[in-house]
Amino acid sequence: MEDIKLLISLAKKGAIGDKVRVTLRELSRELNTSPQSVMRRLESLEKNGYLKKEVSGKKTFVEITPKGLELLEEMFDEIGKVLYGKFILGEVVSGIGEGKYYVEQYRNRIKDYLGFTPYPGTLNILVIFPKTIYDALYNVEPITIPGFTKEGRTFGDVKAYKVRINGIEGAIVVPSRTIHPPRIAEIIAPVCLREKLNLKDGSKVKVEVVK
Ligand code: CDP
Repeated sequence: MEDIKLLISLAKKGAIGDKVRVTLRELSRELNTSPQSVMRRLESLEKNGYLKKEVSGKKTFVEITPKGLELLEEMFDEIGKVLYGKFILGEVVSGIGEGKYYVEQYRNRIKDYLGFTPYPGTLNILVIFPKTIYDALYNVEPITIPGFTKEGRTFGDVKAYKVRINGIEGAIVVPSRTIHPPRIAEIIAPVCLREKLNLKDGSKVKVEVVK
């Protein structure tokens, strides 16, 4: 972990593709450790082939090797898989009571496009992790439930992302003209999730995005 932080600091200083001058004092301040410990880390990173170091007099020059850059890329990919992964953690909140009306309007289309008859309403989840629902959904292909007009009213397209909550299938629905900030996930399901899972406002839920 500390090694990765040091490599990140060096990369930010431009130690990519050529050597840059670093001072132990500055690096130790940035990493909140002692200059001796920074020196030891630089030496062990060099020994393992992640950087090249050159000391000339009192000056130290460092360059990250291709192996070191590869390590940073791998870390980035792995962290990305978690941050943009398939789990959303959130907390149950109450909406403004509009969910029921809308789900009823789209009822038959939800059955056609998602394969279940929805319980009338949406369970609103305030997303805690990742930062917004779009982080978890950005590389997921949504199912688009097409809009329609009824009695002179227009109902827009709705994007649906299949999910599971405690094994129960459902979907996060995002109206094309959403009034919700992306930190609220609205979930539809064939059953009343509050009842089935004994949820109250403030209950923590883990939503698995089905990819
Ligand atoms: O907008 P609001 O959360 O007030 O309500 P709604 O969308 O009309 O949904 C009615 C109630 O059912 C709310 O308490 C929802 O949280 C809940 N609900 C649920 O438990 N499971 C679902 N599949 C859908 C809604």
